[in-house]
Amino acid sequence: MDADSCVAIAQDLSEYFSADTHSELRASIDRDDAWVAEVSARLVGFLVARVRYPRAAEITHLAVRREAWHHGTGTALLSAALQDLQERGVVVVEVKTLDATAGYGPYAATREFWRRRGFVQIDCIDPLPGWQPGNPSAILVAALRPTR
Ligand SMILES: CC(C)(COP(=O)(O)OP(=O)(O)OC[C@H]1O[C@@H](n2cnc3c(N)ncnc32)[C@H](O)[C@@H]1OP(=O)(O)O)[C@@H](O)C(=O)NCCC(=O)NCCS
Repeated sequence: MDADSCVAIAQDLSEYFSADTHSELRASIDRDDAWVAEVSARLVGFLVARVRYPRAAEITHLAVRREAWHHGTGTALLSAALQDLQERGVVVVEVKTLDATAGYGPYAATREFWRRRGFVQIDCIDPLPGWQPGNPSAILVAALRPTR
């Protein structure tokens, strides 16, 4: 996994990934599971997920190069990751993103991206431990299959 290229994508998306999150991204890539999208051998997007419990995983990072947005890369990364996680027995997937109450424009599209792919907000935690003050966290989940 080319962690430098992933961090470079995050650096270019500075309204989504503040500089203080880059070291955690690098650590996650080393520690957790990652999927990448490439075009002509160039990394254009990545997704990182952590299986936190045998049947539950968290998508910790997803990003696509700005110039490659709206061509299906984010959806393809998500589909590949969810397929692999489901094959490993994961039934519920969580993602945390910036809550609407923050009133911060760029993340409105991000929340819509998750909503249209079946993720449901179940909570807003503010402050979320580990997040900078003033960043209410929307907790979203999607079921990969019925759990009962
Ligand atoms: C969110 C993000 C990963 C989406 O990546 P993407 O590659 O643009 O995602 P997709 O192209 O699959 O889907 C985005 C839109 O493009 C459209 N689209 C998908 N395939 C398309 C195609 N072949 N042609 C034209 N448009 C297409 C879809 O309609 C989709 O819109 P919708 O969500 O309203 O349905 C990207 O915008 C990003 O990196 N954002 C900043 C970081 C971020 O917010 N990360 C998540 C943190 S929680």
